[in-house]
Amino acid sequence: MEVIEAIRTRRSVRQFTDKAIPDDVLDRLLEALRLAPTGGNAQPFKFIVVRDTETKARLAAACHYKPGMPNGHAFIAQAPLAIVACGSNDAAISRFYQDGDVALAPGQWVPPNPERRPDEHLNLMQVDVAIAVDHLVLQATAEGLGTCWVAGLHEGEVKEVLSVPENMRVVVVISIGYTDKWPEARPRKPLEEIVSYDKYV
Ligand SMILES: Cc1cc2nc3c(=O)[nH]c(=O)nc-3n(C[C@H](O)[C@H](O)[C@H](O)COP(=O)(O)O)c2cc1C
Repeated sequence: MEVIEAIRTRRSVRQFTDKAIPDDVLDRLLEALRLAPTGGNAQPFKFIVVRDTETKARLAAACHYKPGMPNGHAFIAQAPLAIVACGSNDAAISRFYQDGDVALAPGQWVPPNPERRPDEHLNLMQVDVAIAVDHLVLQATAEGLGTCWVAGLHEGEVKEVLSVPENMRVVVVISIGYTDKWPEARPRKPLEEIVSYDKYV
């Protein structure tokens, strides 16, 4: 499958069959993650492959996003596979400004600078994780698999279920599996609304 075809075909799939994912397919998904580019080649991430039924059920329960409401992420337990994307701000590259110059360095550390605006500091961990996850998702689409990104989760609870260390952030969970219900395309803004040429319009 061409990359553009995978991009056009992909949907957020929230209903899965129980068909197992063959090992060679999983290997290619993980290879797609591994080959992703990262700022400074820091690779500040770790991905937890969750296939165990009980662990998936506990993970799904931790992916709640509205206390008191029915858990909309029960499909995480239904899918044969979940991949939990964790990242380290300390291991990722940060962009900041030092004495008027742009600086890139690993970690959250920013030199003291009273004139620095707080929003000038950018840690790239979430960018790095998102690129790797998108590689995974597009490869999964090319393999005929459905996926859904899930950022709505209780981070502390997910960490507890999977023994994620204190210094790692849980960015997103991706549920993956075959489906017999491929959703309709969701609407997107027209190009004119999101692209401008030569200056911001
Ligand atoms: C970063 C990110 C976080 C998301 N978090 C959730 C989520 O917590 N729960 C959910 O059901 N879908 C989630 N989604 C799926 C989006 O709702 C979905 O991508 C969007 O509605 C567009 O639909 P499509 O993926 O079918 O094109 C997330 C998607 C992204 C990219």
